[in-house]
Amino acid sequence: ATYQIGYVVGSLSAGSINRVLARALVRLAPQELEFTEIPIRDLPLFDYDLEDDFPAPARALKDAVESSDGILFVTPEYNRSIPGPLKNAIDWGSRPWGQNSFARKPTGIIGASPGGIGTAVMQASMRSVLSFLDAPQLNAPEAYVTFRPEVFGADGEVRDASTADFLRHYMSEYCAFVQRVLAANAPGHI
Ligand code: FNR
Repeated sequence: ATYQIGYVVGSLSAGSINRVLARALVRLAPQELEFTEIPIRDLPLFDYDLEDDFPAPARALKDAVESSDGILFVTPEYNRSIPGPLKNAIDWGSRPWGQNSFARKPTGIIGASPGGIGTAVMQASMRSVLSFLDAPQLNAPEAYVTFRPEVFGADGEVRDASTADFLRHYMSEYCAFVQRVLAANAPGHI
């Protein structure tokens, strides 16, 4: 079987190291996973006054999340937390009340920064938000990536064998996790 994975890059920047990391993850992932980016750039800032006439980019985001078997967040850490554009996207996906698109959706959280902490604090914030939204998360392995330009090529090639092995292992565990959650979500599962 193949599984449709929607990935969200939490940075809007042209030179985003997290976009490079996302390319690397797509290359290293198991064959069963097929990837589509879920874009967040065109979303307006969330305002519940807009909910009555749901904006088209927000509707598109909800449709993309709902039609994905799993969601992978590849995102930087801003001031030790979730980048505003990504939090905005998650807020849109969670609305309107009672129609949270992330419920029971298997998720993975990974991120890169130039520093040694590798987005760890942001990931803790993401776990709180996704827990509240009832989204199961891959708990282990964790992946805190210190981005070194000599290791990652712009097209996602990974030049260091141990980094490539680690990211391949992460994606293989993520794939197994998505399969487990989908099985648990299936009608009739006890
Ligand atoms: C940062 N950066 C950063 N890095 C980090 O490890 N922890 C942090 O809390 C922050 N905070 C932060 C805030 C803001 C507003 C900016 C713009 C940057 C540095 C950040 O990791 C670096 O700019 C990355 O290159 C951002 O990822 P993308 O956009 O290249 O994917």
